[in-house]
Amino acid sequence: MDMSGKNMACLHLPVMLAEIVRFFAAGAERRGQVPWRFLDATLGLGGHTEGVLQAIAGAQVLGLDRDGEALALARERLKPFAGAVHFRQSAFAGFTGALDELGWAFVDGVLLDAGVSSLQLDKAARGFSFLRDGPLDMRMDTRQGENATTLVNTAPVKKLQEIIRVYGEDPQAGRIARAITEARAKSPLESTAQLAAVVEKAYPPKWRAMSRNHPATRTFMALRMAVNDEPGQLGMFLERIVPRLAHGGRLAVISFHSLEDRMVKHFFKTAATGCLCPPGLSLCTCGHKASLRLLSKKALEASPEEKERNPRARSAKLRLAERTENAFSLPGGNLPAGSSFRP
Ligand SMILES: C[S@@+](CC[C@H](N)C(=O)[O-])C[C@H]1O[C@@H](n2cnc3c(N)ncnc32)[C@H](O)[C@@H]1O
Repeated sequence: MDMSGKNMACLHLPVMLAEIVRFFAAGAERRGQVPWRFLDATLGLGGHTEGVLQAIAGAQVLGLDRDGEALALARERLKPFAGAVHFRQSAFAGFTGALDELGWAFVDGVLLDAGVSSLQLDKAARGFSFLRDGPLDMRMDTRQGENATTLVNTAPVKKLQEIIRVYGEDPQAGRIARAITEARAKSPLESTAQLAAVVEKAYPPKWRAMSRNHPATRTFMALRMAVNDEPGQLGMFLERIVPRLAHGGRLAVISFHSLEDRMVKHFFKTAATGCLCPPGLSLCTCGHKASLRLLSKKALEASPEEKERNPRARSAKLRLAERTENAFSLPGGNLPAGSSFRP
């Protein structure tokens, strides 16, 4: 298979690519520092990283992804930049370990482009989509963890309801969870088509008629988020990222789910605020200092043309920030390879 960027675009189109590349290129230009170190926490098929490497001479990249198949394709795509990219199959919540292995105390740019890739969604064998019948798997890292078959066939009805209500934001969560437990009592649900049929049947006919999407859309998204602990991963990543961002370093987060965007928004707002004491105190007792400067007041969205071209871009929310103070930066920049620095 030809692994050129053009061909890869058939497998997954990077969202808001021009905006992301411009953002990091401007940051690199301001810092004027070589090497410019970039953490792509969700490398996927490497589309964003390819753009960054084309725009920023001397950039070095650490690309993480849980998905071995995506990493293999990214490796092929990024061959022209051999030596500039380090690949790791890892969950992004564990990014500090990967940075430490390289001896990178700090990075100058970080991108997290959350969720799934079209490659994952479009492959029946991965079990992410009800549009293609396949085994009910949904794991991004097929080496690890409980898959969707186990979750769907063993979780208590209350847990299923909570997952579908909170992650799927589906008002029919109770009915769907009950329908799943009734169906699995007769025989285990093992394929995406089986599960989609159960959910569809659980939906009241009036709702089915009103709904713009297939009734199983939200349930599938919710189960995928639970199987991969997506909000938990995002929370851990956000908690850990600022101390590893160099002074003036830039952070971009793209999310596709309102729950995740709320997490990012809250985190950015808190990190960009100085004192967090309750109003009315005459002296600050919390000692909190702003560690980020927000570079986009509101979440940015893809252009209408991009939304037209790439339906995945319709729900994308992009938030941008820059590291403020120098508290964690060391004179001389990043530590040499092999250093055992811990923040
Ligand atoms: C939207 S795609 C990224 C696409 C990429 N920016 C590109 O240009 O090709 C999201 C990727 O993040 C990966 N991913 C999602 N959650 C992850 C996690 N917690 N840790 C590591 N990778 C994760 C998925 O496997 C998927 O390949």
